[in-house]
Amino acid sequence: MPAPPTDARSLTGTALSVTKCGDDGAILALRVDTEDGRELPPLRAARFFMLRREDKLSPAIPRPFSLYRQRGSVLEFLIKVMGDGTRALAACTPGTRLRVIGPLGNGWPALDGDGAPWVMLAGGIGSAPFYMGIEQALAGMDGKTPARREQLFYLYGAAKSGMLYDLAAFEKLGARTFTCTVDGSHGLRGNVLGLLAQLQQRGVIPERVRLLACGPERMLEAVEAHARARGLECWLSLETLMGCGVGICNGCPVPTLPGGPHGSWPNRKCCVEGPVFSTDDVTLCGAH
Ligand SMILES: Cc1cc2nc3c(=O)[nH]c(=O)nc-3n(C[C@H](O)[C@H](O)[C@H](O)COP(=O)(O)OP(=O)(O)OC[C@H]3O[C@@H](n4cnc5c(N)ncnc54)[C@H](O)[C@@H]3O)c2cc1C
Ligand code: FES
Repeated sequence: MPAPPTDARSLTGTALSVTKCGDDGAILALRVDTEDGRELPPLRAARFFMLRREDKLSPAIPRPFSLYRQRGSVLEFLIKVMGDGTRALAACTPGTRLRVIGPLGNGWPALDGDGAPWVMLAGGIGSAPFYMGIEQALAGMDGKTPARREQLFYLYGAAKSGMLYDLAAFEKLGARTFTCTVDGSHGLRGNVLGLLAQLQQRGVIPERVRLLACGPERMLEAVEAHARARGLECWLSLETLMGCGVGICNGCPVPTLPGGPHGSWPNRKCCVEGPVFSTDDVTLCGAH
């Protein structure tokens, strides 16, 4: 039976700031109260926390959010306002008390600098797990040739420019960053797979790459199909609805790939076995 990570705790924290970000987003910075008063150790990108306010303004069930940035026990989350839970978090003021459950989930695979170049595909708020992903991938390439660092690509797409959250911060990180929007208001008009195809046609990105993706489900289905058709290694960070985040409620099933490493077991739990899955393991587009 898959269990939550051994470092996960139910902790409290205090909001430090909320900064508006893009058309409908906010960056929430908070300080976690650790059990022993020590700073949290560095966490792997694409792990997540369940968050709610301790007052009555949040729904009873905490909501899952990818860790956006970390400085010790100061954690930042990039939040798109969707409903009551996200609205309550975006309305925090300095001093608001929070319930902070985590760190949860597995995070991106080791982003080593050997092998095919990494291409990170982000759709809208799906950018959240990539900020630290880029930082950690670049750190893993330290000491390697500068040309190697040139082989980390971040393709950031959204419906419109106001949903390319915190773009300027991403552009400063050091990955080669390209954008696209469905309405053409920033970068190429179209989606991230169209952008990838264009960059490959121009010879900017090679054909053999390793893909990481996070974004709306339809985008992830398309990325999975793209990877399967070309035999590319691919990992998806999934944003299923979550009731508990710790493996109890069975509210976050992800279909396994028939004949994959889990045999006839039909589902995996996104919260404790993900949220990052290899497409060798699960399928969103119903591959056989
Ligand atoms: C592992 C993980 C990491 C996540 N990371 C982030 C993050 O970094 N930033 C961020 O803004 N959001 C993230 N999400 C999504 C976030 O948890 C939801 O947007 C949030 O739970 C919505 O809560 P709410 O109370 O505001 O909306 P609700 O009232 O619960 O829902 C409002 C509307 O949003 C839809 N909705 C709710 N959850 C999701 C979802 N997961 N995917 C698509 N539609 C949804 C509902 O169906 C409904 O239509 C993540 C989800 C997971 C599972
Ligand atoms: S959210 Fe409850 S089992 Fe995954």
